[in-house]
Amino acid sequence: MKLDDVIHTPDFAADPFPVYRELQDCDPVQWSAIWNCWVVTRYDDVRTCLQDAKRFSNVGRITGLFHRHFDAGQLAELKPLIDHYSHGLINIDPPGHTRIRRLLHEVFRPSTIGRYRDFVQAFVNEQMAKILPTGKLTVVRDLAHPLPVHVIARLFGVPVADVPLFTAWSAGIVAFMQTPVPKMETCLRSQQALLDLRAYLRRGIIERQTTPSDDVLSLMVHARSEGDALTEDEILGTAVTILLGGHETTTRLLTTTLLELSRHPEQQQKLRQNPDLMETAVEEFLRFAGPFHRDQRVASCDTEVGGKHVKKGDFILMMLAAANRDPRQFSEPDKLDLTRTPNRHVAFGFGPHICLGAPLARLEMGIAVGSILEVTKSFRVVSQAVEWKFGFLRGPCELELELEIST
Ligand code: HEM
Repeated sequence: MKLDDVIHTPDFAADPFPVYRELQDCDPVQWSAIWNCWVVTRYDDVRTCLQDAKRFSNVGRITGLFHRHFDAGQLAELKPLIDHYSHGLINIDPPGHTRIRRLLHEVFRPSTIGRYRDFVQAFVNEQMAKILPTGKLTVVRDLAHPLPVHVIARLFGVPVADVPLFTAWSAGIVAFMQTPVPKMETCLRSQQALLDLRAYLRRGIIERQTTPSDDVLSLMVHARSEGDALTEDEILGTAVTILLGGHETTTRLLTTTLLELSRHPEQQQKLRQNPDLMETAVEEFLRFAGPFHRDQRVASCDTEVGGKHVKKGDFILMMLAAANRDPRQFSEPDKLDLTRTPNRHVAFGFGPHICLGAPLARLEMGIAVGSILEVTKSFRVVSQAVEWKFGFLRGPCELELELEIST
């Protein structure tokens, strides 16, 4: 089985899991000429790559794309974009990365994230109140897209009036990542969106230096550990990663979860009748419907993965969603089981770069799914013909649900 033969087919986007299984069984570390990298599908191999930052580096995971596809003149034009992706949390390795994570540990305490519970609940209630009289939920438009962006804006103390700006920047910055080979015009547009967002956030940072508040941006400005502090560049890098890492991921997870609950009405009813299952259910949604399919590293030396020789500088795609369905790790991996324990999925990654926003994503998911179940007797998809968006992240472009409202 050659992944390259199916990569661009609609069947693969609609259901990549049979392909992942065949790769796991027959060629678990396969070279893709289309993606120009190694594709790793087995759970153990994926965890090894995520964990071993000495051999599998985050340095160059994005900038390498530019260096491989553009000439010197183009690289000069893209300098601000390349500079941004050369620094900051997600683009560096330990020990520099460990230092930043230590400082952020103070900021992303469970108690800090817990403070956003009421905001998330109020936002979901407000959105549901608007759509309930219609009996229909257009999931991405009404809830899954606006919820995370409003939450992140709130983390940064951004006024509601500026949320559309945030939404546009978020979409603009990630645009160049949507195709395996980036296009120069798209990169330039992404660069402009990035520069605008950084300028906006920089004004917020300067304000908080003199007038601290209790938002996450302010906590980052004032975070201290053993006399150390985050630089302005590190705060900007982290803030951009939070916007990019916390927005579309949550949109895609919530949408795919609601699709799967429609496809599994018995599991939907089970959760409706046992709201206490929500904690294990959210972990199972992450495993079964996790949005992050492809995560990337660069080999920092000649090495080996799953028996294949990998050269220094080779790109490695760790297929997180494939690992989460590996029968070597999970019994009945293609079964949605909301009571599954243990559930050591890698939907949030693993090792040094494990998702910083995982507690917030879990909070948003629990509240959003719980609230929909509470106000409905059941819900189902209007049409099973789903169009899938499938880049690094995967999820339905849109999803129409018909709701039977509780009386
Ligand atoms: C369903 C939602 C989410 C999923 C599936 C997800 C997934 C991930 C994954 C797989 C990584 C590791 C990337 C790597 O190792 O290369 C990651 C990192 C990260 N995520 Fe998330 N994420 C989600 C939500 C969030 C939210 C809500 C935030 C913040 C509010 C966030 C902030 C971050 C940050 C800052 C990193 C970088 C951590 C580091 O490099 O040390 N994520 N996320």
